[in-house]
Amino acid sequence: MKYDLGNKTVVITGANSGIGKAASMQLAQLGANVVMMCRNKERGEQALQDVRAVATTGSVELILVDMSSQTSVRKAITEFLSGHSQLDALIHNAANFDLAQKKPIMTSDGIESIFATNHVNISLMTKLLLDTLKQSAPSRIITVASKGLMTYPFLDIEFDNMQGEKKFSINHAYYHSKQAQVMFTFYLAERLKGTGVTVNCVRVGNVAIPDSRLDHLPKFLLKIYAMKRKFALTPEKMAETYVWLVADPTLNDVTGKYWDAPDVPVKANKNAYNRETQQRLWEFTEKFIEK
Ligand SMILES: NC(=O)c1ccc[n+]([C@@H]2O[C@H](COP(=O)([O-])OP(=O)(O)OC[C@H]3O[C@@H](n4cnc5c(N)ncnc54)[C@H](OP(=O)(O)O)[C@@H]3O)[C@@H](O)[C@H]2O)c1
Repeated sequence: MKYDLGNKTVVITGANSGIGKAASMQLAQLGANVVMMCRNKERGEQALQDVRAVATTGSVELILVDMSSQTSVRKAITEFLSGHSQLDALIHNAANFDLAQKKPIMTSDGIESIFATNHVNISLMTKLLLDTLKQSAPSRIITVASKGLMTYPFLDIEFDNMQGEKKFSINHAYYHSKQAQVMFTFYLAERLKGTGVTVNCVRVGNVAIPDSRLDHLPKFLLKIYAMKRKFALTPEKMAETYVWLVADPTLNDVTGKYWDAPDVPVKANKNAYNRETQQRLWEFTEKFIEK
């Protein structure tokens, strides 16, 4: 890739695995200062070594964060802000999609854990970094959704089932949280117009997941993953879209868009563009994170 990211600082969550790690490596190769936010110390440190090994001019550091916990998100951002006054791009890559989960699990903040990890605490992290992003403008926020949302063309935010209290399946909870991310992207992009901070969402398709991350799953799911892998993109290929969204100068003023790999603008479902629902979701989320 052709970009020079010297003196640019990028925060990326879920940076120890899959697309997040591949993107960290590509960003580091392009000279960015990469701040890898990871949940697990051991996995994070291993990935840090691998990313540092390919870095060119920039620094690479690790900050531990559990995206399911607001205390952890606040601590991680305090740590980041104690060492940085500049943030050029924030990539919300980490997500919870453990297909072995059968029932809702509540976080220590009293929020259903998939919704907390994949939406609420992403909003919190964004909020805590917003002043720095504005001061660093032009700067970019990248959120991550899923191409699988195409199989839910009528999915909307279920305000009466936000905690999985009426019905719960892992797939539904995951796609509901990703639908929320798409709507968060569109709403935040509007709110930030004129600030120099853009917000775009990547629609990740079928990307290979290493066996080591799947070995707790039942056999039938392993078979499905093995079949999917035959048609999957590599994490490295998908990461190129993240890097493009971070770096490409043609995107300087592009905001509130939804993207397929490699660089294709796509439409979300109709409900995602409903401004009233976006605002209601925003206000609902704010209640969880306003403290
Ligand atoms: N792979 C696909 O086919 C596909 C399809 C659609 C969308 N996506 C999206 O693409 C993104 C990257 O996925 P991937 O394929 O690269 O999967 P992956 O290899 O499983 O990576 C997921 C990352 O998220 C981290 N994570 C999960 N829960 C976390 C938490 N509570 N706190 C902090 N980090 C947490 C994981 O950390 P640990 O190592 O600690 O678990 C891991 O680093 C996700 O947003 C996913 O929803 C992927």
